[in-house]
Amino acid sequence: MSEQNEQGTTAAGGDALVEQDHAAKAAEAAEAPPVTPATPATPAATGVVPVAVEKYRPAVVADADGIAQAAQLLMQGGVVAFPTETVYGLGADAANAEAVARIFKIKKRPQTHPLIVHIPDASHLERWAVDIPDTARRLVGRYWPGPLTLVLRRAEGVSDLLTGGQDTIALRVAAHPVPEALLKAMSEGDDGQRRIGIAAPSANRFGRISPTTAAHVIADLGNDADLVLDGGACEVGIESTIVDFSRGEPVVLRPGRISAQDIAALIGVEPGVPDAADVTAPRVSGSLAAHYAPRAKLRMMKRTAMIDALSTHKGQRIAALALEVNMPRLAPGLVVVVPAVASRYAHTLYANLRALDAAGADIILVETPPGSPAWAGVHDRLSRAAAATPDKPPKVEKAEKIEQVERVEKVDEVENP
Ligand code: TXA
Ligand code: MG
Repeated sequence: MSEQNEQGTTAAGGDALVEQDHAAKAAEAAEAPPVTPATPATPAATGVVPVAVEKYRPAVVADADGIAQAAQLLMQGGVVAFPTETVYGLGADAANAEAVARIFKIKKRPQTHPLIVHIPDASHLERWAVDIPDTARRLVGRYWPGPLTLVLRRAEGVSDLLTGGQDTIALRVAAHPVPEALLKAMSEGDDGQRRIGIAAPSANRFGRISPTTAAHVIADLGNDADLVLDGGACEVGIESTIVDFSRGEPVVLRPGRISAQDIAALIGVEPGVPDAADVTAPRVSGSLAAHYAPRAKLRMMKRTAMIDALSTHKGQRIAALALEVNMPRLAPGLVVVVPAVASRYAHTLYANLRALDAAGADIILVETPPGSPAWAGVHDRLSRAAAATPDKPPKVEKAEKIEQVERVEKVDEVENP
């Protein structure tokens, strides 16, 4: 019988999982579940990471002392990685150009790719943006704090560094006590005018999977950030939904926990999708076809095709993300059974991909998740991961018996901590 880990992933399937999922499915039927802010002081990060992190300076627990230290660093121009309800962010004081420039350097991100600025609350919108439509305000009223980013026309004087030289700015209020506390500290002495914000993209190197634990951040960035705050595993697990309101009708630039249908239900307008042919449209690096990539090749397919693929890809180290039911003939260390509930699937998605990378997978077969609106964010990330990992010739020439792939202890740790 398998056990659930802290992130809700289950090793090697089992009846208990299926029962849990029946209950969870009923819960999901309603709508996008509300985001419960994580406890800031959750100890020790979870999740297997592809490289050893012991050699690096450890993360600091996001308790009151840790947060105070991080706030101090931010205000002095430091770069701090911190948890949000979606993924970990790599933050700098949005008003400090030098600190913001370091984010691009650390991430190895092109300067033309704009950043999301985390602000204290919706009352700060006007300091950063102009021409804010009512529909945007209604969305914010319902979903902030929460996994929603708005792209709006920037106010005069908002730095090109934050916007990638575009005339728009991405703003978000995260539903997490850590950014909330950091922004509160930075708001001290607020005169009602000052632009208070933390510029924070996801805390990974450009093009790779976003981190959902502090250990993931350190595995990606080593000691490049001045401090990594450990607030435990992120609840949502995929990045925020980005809605562009800068060009009249809303357009979903990146789907997330909040779906286009959730938005339509609230504002009465079906949001559009980005027009790939429109070169004047806002640029989103997360919308590049090849983004959010694990190291292994990733392929999405139906279960029957997965079974066939076991023979097709003989000689490669095959791993699988299977829905609810275990994949026969694959070593337990190379199979992760994921719940068929979008919010729970997303919560563990990146940790699972990292764990399978760490287990040395050459190819990850992903059972195609359901197609309902709640799954749009997950589909988006999986499609991009597949696009980012094109076919390569198999590394091993000789067929290896899949049954004999040894169990990989590190994955075991994730699944049964
Ligand atoms: O959940 C999240 O949004 C996380 C957490 C840390 O807040 N942040 C995040 O940031 O995912 P990042 O930089 O990894 O992704 C933000 C995306 C990028 O693809 C960027 O191009 C896009 O937002 N973006 C930022 N400003 C924009 C703008 N003015 N117009 C269009 N897209 C923009
Ligand atoms: Mg990112």
